[in-house]
Amino acid sequence: MGTQNGKKVMLSGMRPTGKLHLGNYLGALENWVKLQDEYECFFFIADWHALTTGYEDTSELKSNIIDMVTDYLSAGLDPEKCTIFVQSAVKEHAELHLLFSMITPLSWLYRCPTYKDQLQQMKDRNISTYGFLGYPCLQAADILIYKPEAVPVGEDQLPHVELTREIARRFNYLYGEVFPEPQSVLTKAKVLPGTDGRKMSKSYNNTITLSDDPETVRKKVMSMVTDPARIRKDDPGHPEVCTVFAYHTVLNEEGVAETEAMCRAGTIGCVQCKKNLYSKMAEKLMPIYEKRQELLSRHGYIREVVENGNARAAKTAQKTMAEVRKAMKIDW
Ligand code: TRP
Ligand code: SF4
Repeated sequence: MGTQNGKKVMLSGMRPTGKLHLGNYLGALENWVKLQDEYECFFFIADWHALTTGYEDTSELKSNIIDMVTDYLSAGLDPEKCTIFVQSAVKEHAELHLLFSMITPLSWLYRCPTYKDQLQQMKDRNISTYGFLGYPCLQAADILIYKPEAVPVGEDQLPHVELTREIARRFNYLYGEVFPEPQSVLTKAKVLPGTDGRKMSKSYNNTITLSDDPETVRKKVMSMVTDPARIRKDDPGHPEVCTVFAYHTVLNEEGVAETEAMCRAGTIGCVQCKKNLYSKMAEKLMPIYEKRQELLSRHGYIREVVENGNARAAKTAQKTMAEVRKAMKIDW
């Protein structure tokens, strides 16, 4: 169990938030690109999950999904190596979610930390809904239907994977062994601030996105906030309060010590320091940007990738559902 084509299965997903930024890339996608060579990977866009908190306005859902898949492919996910699909296209997730909802005690859902946090944070929306409470049940279905060995996720998703394991145990106990318990693989967080020093977020308009053209990226870097105490080029600086330096820490590992020393000694100006950062950033972003241009010139290609991925994912999902129905004696 947990293997396909002789490889261990891995699965992960993201909500369709639209164009990805550098933080999303470094926090997840860059890691996925590495995993696809070693594992049988399923990567999907969790559009039903987006509905649990944003069900009122669905006007941008489709274009957000296409933008995200475009980012996946530009960043180097290869549809020959991994399966890229859209959750709502594989209806079996919904059936398994329904069945899991029968066996999941309400107390498990109420005590889930993300449930409590988001209810608090999203006071402006009515998310006191059945669907929102059941979010982890849907996530358990997304995961278990592919019987993965492991789920690469950020720290915020650990409680959901833990609940998934509990649901798997409960199912296996009630109906017989169908689901292996997946491990979470914590993706090491590399936290980047936004270009203005606040949290990187689309709503603050302070992100660097994977789809920005090189000139836009350069301008964003050159306008980043630095240590306000540095008025003249040879004023000693304080890297710990500088946004540019936070980026050097993540993107310029070999040069970070020297940058820090030069900043403190006042032997490098902020303009030069930003230029150095831009050249490091361009090393990562240029190939992604170029790949994107190529992809967009191939008319209909992104859709084709998604449709093939949907069909491939459905095959595995259908196989698991046949076992589930049989185990539960609802196989007609
Ligand atoms: N809850 C995840 C998030 O908000 C998205 C997600 C849905 C997911 N289903 C999943 C992640 C299954 C990993 C595995 O980012
Ligand atoms: Fe920031 Fe670099 Fe200027 Fe120091 S020299 S304040 S690290 S931009």
